Amino acid sequence: MKNIILIGATSAIAQALGRQLAARGARLMLWGRSADKLEIVAADLRVRGASVDCDAFDFDNFAAHPAALERARKLGDWDAVFVCHGSLGDQKLCEQDFAAAEKEFRTNCLGALSFLTIFANYFEGQGRGTIAAIGSVAGDRGRQSNYVYGTTKAAISTFMQGLRNRLHPKGVRVLTIKPGFVSTPMTAHLKQGLLMAKPDKVAKDILKAADSGKAVLYTPWFWRWIMLIIRLIPESIFVRLKL
Ligand SMILES: NC(=O)c1ccc[n+]([C@@H]2O[C@H](COP(=O)([O-])OP(=O)(O)OC[C@H]3O[C@@H](n4cnc5c(N)ncnc54)[C@H](OP(=O)(O)O)[C@@H]3O)[C@@H](O)[C@H]2O)c1
Repeated sequence: MKNIILIGATSAIAQALGRQLAARGARLMLWGRSADKLEIVAADLRVRGASVDCDAFDFDNFAAHPAALERARKLGDWDAVFVCHGSLGDQKLCEQDFAAAEKEFRTNCLGALSFLTIFANYFEGQGRGTIAAIGSVAGDRGRQSNYVYGTTKAAISTFMQGLRNRLHPKGVRVLTIKPGFVSTPMTAHLKQGLLMAKPDKVAKDILKAADSGKAVLYTPWFWRWIMLIIRLIPESIFVRLKL
């Protein structure tokens, strides 16, 4: 896994991934919506040993996605893609105004599914490759505090499950990443408690899982057990909880 596309490369988790891949001497393609931000990330990763190209475009314009892959392919073949962009919308606003929820779905879910679709076909044609996308533990069970975000992540998870089933015989690996709380700009407004992981730790877990061909990663590891318990709570009890 040497030639890698990072989608949403300015995200804190993607930057941590980039730093660890740079230390391996990877060739990276950074995709994001801001050319200026991408160049800052690229400069840092080049100093750390990566060969880096950048491509900025509007992720919410799905018609632009296949063209971005075509531009990347002109530079050579790719071994892996990590889909890392996302937004944590305002749940209360989404409850009052479906336009806000629709925007969340466009960025967080439909955009990701569009990227997954074009990379599934690209790697299937190539007969090898790794597709990894960041979902969330929030997708494991709908909770009143963030069910719009959770639904976008649940959709990614189910889509990836289907892709894994489709692409397994074609030699393509599909990794669903489910982080718990990670200390990034997305969660800067939340209490930075004991459960808050560092992006570097999460990125280390992600690369280990991608290297070993794992299907589903909870990171840090204890979220697998926390979410198992949360999923097992009977609905009759769950409806009474303020989660
Ligand atoms: N942090 C957590 O606790 C946590 C937990 C579970 C899952 N995740 C998931 O992990 C992934 C990375 O998040 P992070 O925590 O690293 O957050 P982050 O540092 O805030 O990064 C968010 C990224 O998404 C990009 N983005 C947001 N809206 C976009 C749009 N409309 N078009 C294109 N790009 C857009 C941002 O681009 P700009 O830099 O241009 O703004 C940035 O690269 C996300 O999928 C997130 O849902 C995070």
